[in-house]
Amino acid sequence: MSPTAPYAAPLAPVGAVAARATDLSKVYGRGETRVAALDSVSVEFRRAQFTAIMGPSGSGKSTLMHCMAGLDSISSGSTRIGDVELGSLGDRQLTKLRRDRIGFVFQAFNLLPTLSALENITLPLDIAGRKPDPAWLQQIVATLGLSGRLAHRPSQLSGGQQQRVAVARALTSRPEIVFADEPTGNLDSRSGAELLGFLHESVRALQQTIVMVTHDPVAASYADRVVFLADGRIVDEMYEPTADAVLDRMRRFPGGNPRTPASDTQGRTS
Ligand SMILES: Nc1ncnc2c1ncn2[C@@H]1O[C@H](COP(=O)(O)OP(=O)(O)OP(=O)(O)O)[C@@H](O)[C@H]1O
Ligand SMILES: [Mg+2]
Repeated sequence: MSPTAPYAAPLAPVGAVAARATDLSKVYGRGETRVAALDSVSVEFRRAQFTAIMGPSGSGKSTLMHCMAGLDSISSGSTRIGDVELGSLGDRQLTKLRRDRIGFVFQAFNLLPTLSALENITLPLDIAGRKPDPAWLQQIVATLGLSGRLAHRPSQLSGGQQQRVAVARALTSRPEIVFADEPTGNLDSRSGAELLGFLHESVRALQQTIVMVTHDPVAASYADRVVFLADGRIVDEMYEPTADAVLDRMRRFPGGNPRTPASDTQGRTS
């Protein structure tokens, strides 16, 4: 492979494809402000697999998640959820697909300030005219430590609690695939470990598919696979990652000195 060719991630070993990007490019702006946020990215995410996306700040991680979830337009290439190519859908079909099949945890939680925690959690189902499964909702809320906070508004919650509400909202409808953009970025290490354990378990026990952006090698070690982005390209991947192996790989990014795991789990806000 020539150094300039995009890294082609080999096929994941098991399971059907839950989401796929093919030669996906995303350009923001034009002229002097032009940024190629994604440069011909091809990647597959298999069902019932937990994938972590890592890479330096600005490498295109959030852009990849937004494009794959149909939240942002793409410049060229294609994106699929299951068998459906997102580019073939009209606005209403895309909205319906996002609502019915995708859970998304935003880097900035995107909670509605006038709704309580519980109302925020159940909002996507309410919009779809569906009722949450009470036992599943109860399990999510208990696991994420939100039982005593359900009546609070986001402004009455800590950053970590808001983040957990955002995670609960993404999981409650049991979507086919969950995209989570730094879901542990605002959690202390214990809450982070609980959340990651829960995500890991939902992949094992419930065949949930999860794609998670993180800067934290320890968080990445909960995943089955890590995909590394740099400058809008996939540059490497790793199966059965350990925190040490991930940290070691991150150190080899050009100019890449990762935040240490300790500083990463303490109150990061971006
Ligand atoms: N709406 C936008 N308009 C213009 N440029 C953008 C926009 N969104 C992202 N970019 C640029 O695209 C590149 C990739 O951004 P992206 O948010 O995907 O990075 P990231 O890997 O998620 O970084 P971080 O770890 O800091 O969250 C960056 O150079 C960023 O400045
Ligand atoms: Mg980001």
